[in-house]
Amino acid sequence: MALQIKSIEDYHKAYQKSIENPSKFWDEIAKDFYWKKKWDQTLSYDWSVPETKWFVGGKLNITENCLDRHLATKGNQTAIIWEPNDPKVKAKHITYRQLYSKVCAFANVLKNNGVVKGDRVCIYMPMIIELPIAALACARIGAIHSIVFAGFSSRALAARINDSKCKVLLTSDGGLRGDKIIPLKDIADNALKTCPSIKKSIIFKRTRQTVEWIKGRDLWWHEELAKVDDSCPAEVMDSEDILFILYTSGSTGKPKGMVHTCGGYMVYSTYSFLNVFQYRPNDIYWCTADIGWITGHSFIVYGPLTTGATTVMFEGIPSYPDFGRFWEICEKHKVTQFYTAPTAIRALAKHPLSFVTSHDLSCLKILGTVGEPINEEAWHWYNINIGKNKCPIVDTWWQTETGGIMISSLAGITKDKPTFATLPLPGIQPVLLNGDGIEITEIKAEGILAIKQPWPSLARTIYGDNKRYKNVYFSAYPGYYFPGDGALRDSKGNYRITGRVDDVIIVSGHNLGTAPIENAINEHEDIVESAVVGFPHDIKGNALHAYVMTYDGIIQNDKLIGEIRNLVTKTIGAIARPDKIQFVKGLPKTRSGKIMRRILRKIASGDTENLGDTSTLLNPEIVDDLQKGFAKGR
Ligand code: WTA
Repeated sequence: MALQIKSIEDYHKAYQKSIENPSKFWDEIAKDFYWKKKWDQTLSYDWSVPETKWFVGGKLNITENCLDRHLATKGNQTAIIWEPNDPKVKAKHITYRQLYSKVCAFANVLKNNGVVKGDRVCIYMPMIIELPIAALACARIGAIHSIVFAGFSSRALAARINDSKCKVLLTSDGGLRGDKIIPLKDIADNALKTCPSIKKSIIFKRTRQTVEWIKGRDLWWHEELAKVDDSCPAEVMDSEDILFILYTSGSTGKPKGMVHTCGGYMVYSTYSFLNVFQYRPNDIYWCTADIGWITGHSFIVYGPLTTGATTVMFEGIPSYPDFGRFWEICEKHKVTQFYTAPTAIRALAKHPLSFVTSHDLSCLKILGTVGEPINEEAWHWYNINIGKNKCPIVDTWWQTETGGIMISSLAGITKDKPTFATLPLPGIQPVLLNGDGIEITEIKAEGILAIKQPWPSLARTIYGDNKRYKNVYFSAYPGYYFPGDGALRDSKGNYRITGRVDDVIIVSGHNLGTAPIENAINEHEDIVESAVVGFPHDIKGNALHAYVMTYDGIIQNDKLIGEIRNLVTKTIGAIARPDKIQFVKGLPKTRSGKIMRRILRKIASGDTENLGDTSTLLNPEIVDDLQKGFAKGR
């Protein structure tokens, strides 16, 4: 593909061009895709509104780029290799032609059930092939998919369905995770009690346990499929029509429904896929993320399929049936690019090396990481034991909001550097700002990361709330997109992400806002208030420490600890359970009543000496109690 950068000179040239004349640069890139009608204007934006539009007036359907376009040349090539939870069950290889047929058929199921262009469809499914089929089927007919990670609780699911008023829910009877069955339909049924917008729920039979049934609402996937054929023309979509909504956490209790549009998202997710992973024909590429997160959207489904790649998707978990599962899969399918999260690397590095060395990993060419900063030790373990010192490692920095990879080395082309995401991709202009929002001009510096110019796959808004979109991303530093991360830059211009500078905590690579967890805890009738902070954890990167104040001044109670953890699991999901719960007499507050989280973070990380300036506290005496409470290990 003409889109691919092949040398360091190419990279510098492309970067230069993309900065000098972004419209001309993206015009040429976008021409490589299939459009039903060419755009009239490449870019129009005003970040004071904020509003950003790419390829204005262009018409397309992303599924024609993912599927139809490949049929003539790659119809019999494997599009998706699906590796089941149970290693004894055979993997499935789905060709582009088969995928095309399945997507069109399911698109007809959606149509039969009243789904039309612009309707929202919630997808709450395990990592089975029907998940990407469902997403692509939505895209085929112009319905907007909202995929909710199948580890979220009923209440979290309901909140997401209600926020975008989804009309149909797609789910399965259950999902398999190692030797456990997750009763997805039960969880979904519970959610649907409070979701009046859902008219139909279509259920794929995966785990075959008995499930409750609501006549008129619930339908079996296979029975619906039996009623349709597999011919379905692609809906003509405007470049700026919504392709999908994906929720991410923020610093209030309400999740943010990030809106991605058809044209720009397709161009940039594919461009970054092709260049970062240097995908070549016949490569077998595997991203271990769940499709419920942006990494799965962009780098299991849309980026690879638009490229015409072979993409692996894995139903199970890295520890089942043993800690060698990832490496077994790499060997079995001859994976060439392997993309995972630092938290998985750290967890696997804790186990005997024989889980790795018993597999032949000579197929691997390129390794990648995403989701959180990777520490030096994990980087070297990955490099030596998995990459055998011969695979470039791409440390990819990006976000749900950015749609595609923003800062990363391009495998084998630009140099990697342990713990550094390194250089921006063409079209991306990162800057470091000081606390006053002024750009730091020295090359070697540390500051707040911000992005100067729009790129095609920037999320266009928060669904139904452009005001919040403006507040979160464009108000703190007017004229820039503010991602919420800090970074440092070395003398060669390489960026290292230092972590969040807002109230979002990344636990095992998952974004968790502190507010929703605190809201969940505060729902307990014995609790007055709470504050949740992160502390360093050697596998998860960060873990959660909850400071909890009760009405009757309880200072230790195991039953209450259990109840708090369950409440969080019920409200959000197990990923948000605090590791440590410390009962306190009060929380450190400023005179204006704001909780001083800086102090709580220090104490939670075991640093009780250097608490900094506490003179602005309303209740400085509380600090002593907090330290004593921590020292006792509660
Ligand atoms: C963090 C995941 C350091 C960062 C694609 C960002 C990273 C947030 C990296 C977005 C990385 C992601 N190095 N930190 N390579 N990649 N992050 O929306 O804090 O789930 O803002 O998107 O993860 O998380 P999200």
